[in-house]
Amino acid sequence: MKRIAVLTSGGDSPGMNAALRAVVRNGIEHDMEVFAVHSGYEGLIDNKFERMSRRSVADTLQRGGTIIKTARSKRFHDPENRKIAYKNLEKLKIEGLVVIGGNGSLEGARILSEESGILVMGLPGTIDNDLAYTDYTIGFDTAVNTVLDAITKIRDTSSSHDRSTVIEVMGRHCGDIALYSGIAGGAEVVLLPEVEMPLEEVVEKVKEGIECGKLHNIIIKAEGYPVSSQELIRVLKKETGQDVKLVVLSYLQRGGSPTFRDRMLATDCGMMAVELLSQGIGNRAIGEVNGKIVHLDLAKALKAKRSLREELFQEIHILSK
Ligand code: F6P
Repeated sequence: MKRIAVLTSGGDSPGMNAALRAVVRNGIEHDMEVFAVHSGYEGLIDNKFERMSRRSVADTLQRGGTIIKTARSKRFHDPENRKIAYKNLEKLKIEGLVVIGGNGSLEGARILSEESGILVMGLPGTIDNDLAYTDYTIGFDTAVNTVLDAITKIRDTSSSHDRSTVIEVMGRHCGDIALYSGIAGGAEVVLLPEVEMPLEEVVEKVKEGIECGKLHNIIIKAEGYPVSSQELIRVLKKETGQDVKLVVLSYLQRGGSPTFRDRMLATDCGMMAVELLSQGIGNRAIGEVNGKIVHLDLAKALKAKRSLREELFQEIHILSK
């Protein structure tokens, strides 16, 4: 394989640049010409290719975001636009494409490969940790550490004022950021899109905390939990009589210098993607399972169903008493 391309797609995540760097440098090491596609699938349609050198990715390993930009491309859902993208890849004689992104982005890679015959590699680039085939996604560890830093700071002020604080974190359908930061951050309550917890139960838990002399209550709420943060605050204030504050971490979780774990995961996945393409192997999803970097059939990987780690959720109930 002589010419490959690489793109980042969907919500950006810390570590995407580390993965890009590994793809570029290992590709050049394998005597390949490596092209970056700017702005994800939008750039594929708009023919935004850049020939990369080793120096193109200098001083990027430690940077969050993605130097080749990303996008959520609605246009790529249109088969006519996909045909334009395939022609652009054909003109450059691109034989392999590495896609770094979440569920939707890797699904786009599967369709592209099916329709164009170009071999693809899917790398799990999203802070959500919502790809079932891999234990962790690139960016998840950094996002959780960002939330932990916020919890530590909020814990200081909440305990100074005997307050409860609701911290809203990202995760529309997957509550892993809330779940893992809730356990590691010592939250009293964790609210997830995957677990039904009526408001009455939330109020009960906070009241129990106050009665047993807790200095403060930290409630971590994934944005996908079906009750709005404003409504949650209103009910908690009314039912507990406490001053309850809201902190929405929002896009803070998407930025920041990637942690050691995310840099390693990203680099290992990027290196493997090029190794496989250099052997003419394609249509694989790359990730980490039980501490090992693995590659699986892309279509099968995307069909895998996520299940919440119930035992972790139960731990919170025990540890927060
Ligand atoms: O998919 C990652 C993610 O950060 C989600 O956690 C969040 O709900 C969504 O992206 C936000 O999307 P956008 O960046 O398009 O506003």
